Amino acid sequence: MSTVIEAVRPIEDYLVMSDEEIAERIEAAREAMGSRVVILGHHYQRDDVIKHADLNGDSYQLSVLASQTDAEFIVFCGVHFMAESADILGKPSQRVILPDMGAGCSMADMASIDQVEDAWDQLTEIGVIGGEKSVAPITYMNSSAEIKAFCGRNDGVVCTSSNATKLFDLYLKKYDKMFFFPDQHLGRNTGAKFGIGLDEMVVWNPKENLGGNTEQALHDAKLILWRGHCSVHGRFKDWHVDKIREDVPGVKVLVHPECLYEVVQKSDLNGSTSFIIKTVEEAEPGTKWAIGTEVNLVNRLAKRFPDKEVYLLAPDLCMCATMYRISPQSLCWSMENLVNGNVVNEIAVHGETKEQSLIALERMISMTNK
Ligand code: 13P
Ligand code: SF4
Repeated sequence: MSTVIEAVRPIEDYLVMSDEEIAERIEAAREAMGSRVVILGHHYQRDDVIKHADLNGDSYQLSVLASQTDAEFIVFCGVHFMAESADILGKPSQRVILPDMGAGCSMADMASIDQVEDAWDQLTEIGVIGGEKSVAPITYMNSSAEIKAFCGRNDGVVCTSSNATKLFDLYLKKYDKMFFFPDQHLGRNTGAKFGIGLDEMVVWNPKENLGGNTEQALHDAKLILWRGHCSVHGRFKDWHVDKIREDVPGVKVLVHPECLYEVVQKSDLNGSTSFIIKTVEEAEPGTKWAIGTEVNLVNRLAKRFPDKEVYLLAPDLCMCATMYRISPQSLCWSMENLVNGNVVNEIAVHGETKEQSLIALERMISMTNK
């Protein structure tokens, strides 16, 4: 649960200020706060926000940074589940702020703890769980703290797009089956890397009894994939890959593993946002890249590397609208409130949820480093 404390100045005051004034005020607030505050920014943030971030990274790196910083306040320019993870991993004295509470993740919202617990109960009733075979719950970082806690108390783990392969490898050695929430695409794409056939994967639709599957199919499956997806990455289709290869001879296709299976199969490379950045950074001048991920990141890469050709895989705008809710205005508003001694839009996870989700997140970090 989050605590919201009234701001000294209403946010509306900031909406009428010029971009220059807002940027200056953010920097002035940062100077006034000194080392008491750290601004973290996810790679998908817009340019006018990311330029104020002290540190940036993908969702895994940001969770590690949050666990390492000593700042009293972590202002998180990302989405809700990332700020929650920062609070879970941060020190008890630290406070995490999400400049706009509307910055959620539609994929994370596709699985609620009640639905997950109901699914687990149904699988237990038919003997898939508690039967001969062992089942591990694994949740993508893009999920609520309650679902992370569920994984924590059931010997499961959290993963991100940068460590999913590593964690699948470790869990597949130990368990017969995995139940993966909430992104069916990351689950399917990662399972395929281990030779798990599509016929060994079933999709769990939380709106249907047994997730829309037969008992036998659930017993036989190696991977049960929650029916969730990212609407941003779902916009990339396999014909976009064919089209760009036709239009730009020699282009390499680089996509995020939240993309559809068919897209990832046709691509040259896939990986997390940091992997995408590193791949383009290290590429030879003159190379051509079609990238299937959020448009702010792709545009920034195109600007940063004028000696390489960088294209968005789908020509139409593909933005994470919730990430975009974090604006320079809301960042300025939350920073100036901090200067005034008000903590606005605090994200705080409490009690057992915090303890158990910490287990799953710490398990992730230690297994990633194995
Ligand atoms: P990364 O783990 O690559 O940062 O991705 C997070 C995300 O939400 C992508 O949509
Ligand atoms: Fe969520 Fe998709 Fe936005 Fe990532 S890009 S934060 S998965 S809605």
